[in-house]
Amino acid sequence: MLTTIEQDLSQLFGQAFEANDLSFDFGGTVRCSRPELGDFQCNGAMAAAKQGAGNPFVTAEKVVASLPDNDIVKNIDVVRPGFINVFLHEDYLAEKLTTSSQDNTFGCHENLADTKVMIDFGGPNVAKSMHVGHLRTAIIGDSLQRIFRFKGYNVVSDAHLGDWGTQMGMLIEGLKKRQPDLPYFDKDFTGPYPEESPVTIQDLETIYPEESGLCKTDEEAAEKARQATLELQNGREGYRALWQHFVNVSIATLKRDYGELGVSFDLWKGESDADPFIPKILEELDEKGISIKDQGALIVPFVDDQGEKVMPPLILRKSDGAVMYGTTDLATLYERVYDDHAQIVLYVVDGRQQQHFKQVFAAADLMGMNEKTQYEHTYFGTVNGKDGKPFKTRSGGVMKLHDLIQMAKDEAHKKLAESNFGKDFEDEEKDEIAHKVAISTLKFADLRNFRIKDYIFDLEKFSEFEGKTGPYLLMQVARIKSILRKAADIDAVPGDLLSTSDNEKGLTFKLLEFNSALDKTIEKRAPHFLCEHLYNLAQEFSSFYQKQHILKEPDDAKRASLLQLSSICLKQLEMGLELLGIETLERM
Ligand code: ARG
Repeated sequence: MLTTIEQDLSQLFGQAFEANDLSFDFGGTVRCSRPELGDFQCNGAMAAAKQGAGNPFVTAEKVVASLPDNDIVKNIDVVRPGFINVFLHEDYLAEKLTTSSQDNTFGCHENLADTKVMIDFGGPNVAKSMHVGHLRTAIIGDSLQRIFRFKGYNVVSDAHLGDWGTQMGMLIEGLKKRQPDLPYFDKDFTGPYPEESPVTIQDLETIYPEESGLCKTDEEAAEKARQATLELQNGREGYRALWQHFVNVSIATLKRDYGELGVSFDLWKGESDADPFIPKILEELDEKGISIKDQGALIVPFVDDQGEKVMPPLILRKSDGAVMYGTTDLATLYERVYDDHAQIVLYVVDGRQQQHFKQVFAAADLMGMNEKTQYEHTYFGTVNGKDGKPFKTRSGGVMKLHDLIQMAKDEAHKKLAESNFGKDFEDEEKDEIAHKVAISTLKFADLRNFRIKDYIFDLEKFSEFEGKTGPYLLMQVARIKSILRKAADIDAVPGDLLSTSDNEKGLTFKLLEFNSALDKTIEKRAPHFLCEHLYNLAQEFSSFYQKQHILKEPDDAKRASLLQLSSICLKQLEMGLELLGIETLERM
């Protein structure tokens, strides 16, 4: 891994502090808040004074005098009360950026393949179409999987379908009413298994709401659905066969919707896959005295040392024998810990499920899973409408994901038509542009906020070509590409980076902060750090380009160097956007 400027400088200053019998740690440096005073500054002398090292100005001067020989620092100033301001060598900067940019990952990749990270996101339910609630988990989860993988972790993502609850029994009973003659309903069904599904996704999407509505008012229907669910879970063959059809049909549609978003999973497992582990965990919970019977139900109570209840119990099995959402999650975690040997498991799931995960994780801790694996609820806030309440359609219904994407696409078409972009493109290209702009709009608007915050869905604002938006970044990318194309037309191509001039400093420093932004993103499991970096990078490019007329530069070597800097910036912008799951455009 490449060192950062901060690390190089801290090394130098740390040694100088040590030479004065002060701690190495005082050598830390940061970017200068006032660039006219220096590139970087070290404030360690003041920190040392607080710990009794005496006059900070004197300390700073001594430290500067003890600085080891190096090719990094060009000019150095001590300013009262004890700041050390540093200007860096132009050659050092150019070399640093050259080395970093020649690496496929800008020097970010580390050998982390031994750390297996499982990311649970998506969580769509069989027979229900995806809605706005599934947007954040998909976007954040996908970005995290890309970033962890890029850094070198061994990442496995799982869609963890909701394929095992009472909704399955409802579907079975609902279908029975419509097509009672299907062989699957025969108690003794053992095959053959026709490949053709007896239902389409439209059938499922009609049956499910009808049945679930019915079950709310009709106790008999509800009981039937519960019974069918139980029989399915106990292995009734005809029901299992039907269930498989439901799952297959749903996955095909889900893959289409996720494809539209550019989101993918390694595994398409579901709650049902945890089923074989349930007897095992129930046995272990019982043996270890973690679970108890409570009014016919099986629960895990959570109490402190004094026996006081600390939170509601996790219900493992209801009195009618059905297992719960928490039980399947606990069993799935068990599989991830002991079968998949994951070191880290991230659950990118809505913050409104915090209580659920607290309970599941507390039960897992009691079983000792935390000795092997670190599991976290990487939760996120709600997407709200302008009224501050969870985002709905105009008529107050649930906003389907597919419709939301279409809305963003319509808005993109509108904005593109109003602007100068894409005027002379064929319809097909216009449509591709609108699609990519729409996806960038939705993703960037979501990722730019710290994930635990709620945000207000304001499509018009998100679609602007100005400001901290996806379209702005796509436009910057297209702009740099166009500069490079124009240069190529006059036979100017990127060459070696020459020593970094003042106009290029801001951009160079920003480019060298890529890895820090990724590390921060990983540490907090929060891609908004990367968003912030990319936005600032795009802005740095703008101000560089304003100050520096690249194409009019008369000196060939200088022009080649400026083009190189532009192309490095382009590479990092595209790489960073890809890590957010955003595809870029050749031109706009
Ligand atoms: N299917 C669930 C829902 O729609 C989300 C699943 C999240 N993942 C998990 N392991 N519980 O609410």
